[in-house]
Amino acid sequence: MKLPSRDIHNHLLPGVDDGFHHAEDSLHAIEKMAAAGVKEFIFTPHMNPDVYPDESEEHFRQVYDEFVKRIPAEWGVQTSLAAEYMVVKDFERRVEHPETLLHWPDMTILIEMSYYFKSDNIEQAVFELVMAGFRPILAHPERYLYQASDVGWFDHMKDMGCRLQMNCMSLSGCYGPASVKIMAHLLKHDLYDFVATDLHTLGQLQKIQDLKIDRKLSGLVEKLL
Ligand SMILES: [Fe+2]
Repeated sequence: MKLPSRDIHNHLLPGVDDGFHHAEDSLHAIEKMAAAGVKEFIFTPHMNPDVYPDESEEHFRQVYDEFVKRIPAEWGVQTSLAAEYMVVKDFERRVEHPETLLHWPDMTILIEMSYYFKSDNIEQAVFELVMAGFRPILAHPERYLYQASDVGWFDHMKDMGCRLQMNCMSLSGCYGPASVKIMAHLLKHDLYDFVATDLHTLGQLQKIQDLKIDRKLSGLVEKLL
């Protein structure tokens, strides 16, 4: 499949989460993606205190500042740093200190939930974010398989001001029929706002580039790229 011209969700920032471990691999991926038409990268490392209790926005900034010096200007890519915030218990406390959070200049912020259970406080978190002036995006709704029995909930999230981002790999059907059901609902009702790679490895990049999108869905996906 074609890659999004602006990749708003990826784990290319090396050595900070379960994504790319080595800067050389990240650079290789960025070079390949730039050659395939990606012009802008927003790095979104996982911010999840349950998994990475010692991680901080400050550390991400330091790693980012060092890493981007290594991206050759002739690749012609723009980069910026944000994060993928897991909506854990007490996430709202972070929102009380909005100046510390990593987001786009227009206050867009990427959030996610566990693949195994819905965050108890997701509605509250979105409400608090919106009240604080943020513009939340929920990452990969089609990966929250427990929502397949209640896809209307995503319409509710959109009404609350939360945008939705699909993962390229989800289009392969690799997350199973429940994921496909959610994805089809969101595509058909025009509820997705973005498509992104959520790239963790070089191998995934090849899989995404090799992916053939179902013809019934390709028109709906291409307008998001
Ligand atoms: Fe991610």
